[in-house]
Amino acid sequence: MKYYILFGPPGAGKGTQASAMVEKYNLHHISTGELLRKEIAAGSELGLKAKSLIDAGALVPDEVVEGMIESEFRTVKGVDGFLLDGFPRTTAQAEALDRILEKCNESVTSVVSIMIPDEMIKERIRHRASIEGRADDAREETINNRIKTYHDKTEPLVTFYSAQGKYREIDGTGTIEQVRQAIFDMMDKL
Ligand code: AP5
Ligand code: MG
Repeated sequence: MKYYILFGPPGAGKGTQASAMVEKYNLHHISTGELLRKEIAAGSELGLKAKSLIDAGALVPDEVVEGMIESEFRTVKGVDGFLLDGFPRTTAQAEALDRILEKCNESVTSVVSIMIPDEMIKERIRHRASIEGRADDAREETINNRIKTYHDKTEPLVTFYSAQGKYREIDGTGTIEQVRQAIFDMMDKL
């Protein structure tokens, strides 16, 4: 099984590129953000707890998302691998992922990182806010906190996975089609 991590700051285009990647490589897409938004929409206890953190641009506790990932790995069959979008987001989550995969003699295949500068993050999120109405896209303060959370808690994973020789970075500033082609070219060589 392949275990790809789709990495990048908020608004980099992870969700956008994920659909083409899962189709081409027969992967199952797991977006922890989308799973959490489903819990919120369903009004579950977990969703209620997660909502205030997400609306503040903070991360939900590591154990919550780790449990979601493990349950998807257990239940989804018939694919060649998984595409993790928005997970791991902290060093603790990356270490937990390694432990989960080790239990079944598996490991992270590669990290595909879509990189854009902070100013472009804001442009992309403002654009999406006018179309999708995601609660965490609505306020400037939340967007700024998400960017800060990314730099403080998630960016250290670049070093974590580079040290393992698994980190591959794609320039995310081109058009959707250009970025998609760059990802495919890179993944075809893996
Ligand atoms: P999550 O849903 O993962 O949000 P995110 O990381 O902030 O990323 P986004 O979904 O905002 O961006 P994206 O990269 O998918 O961009 P998209 O393709 O939509 O997480 C939300 C929250 O949940 C977190 O803040 C946290 O609270 C919680 N959470 C989630 N995972 C967690 C975890 N592991 N641990 C703890 N908490 C967690 O593109 C953005 C826009 O740009 C779209 O409008 C798109 O059409 C456009 N676009 C994309 N590519 C291009 C392009 N090349 N050119 C022009 N426009 C483009
Ligand atoms: Mg997304």
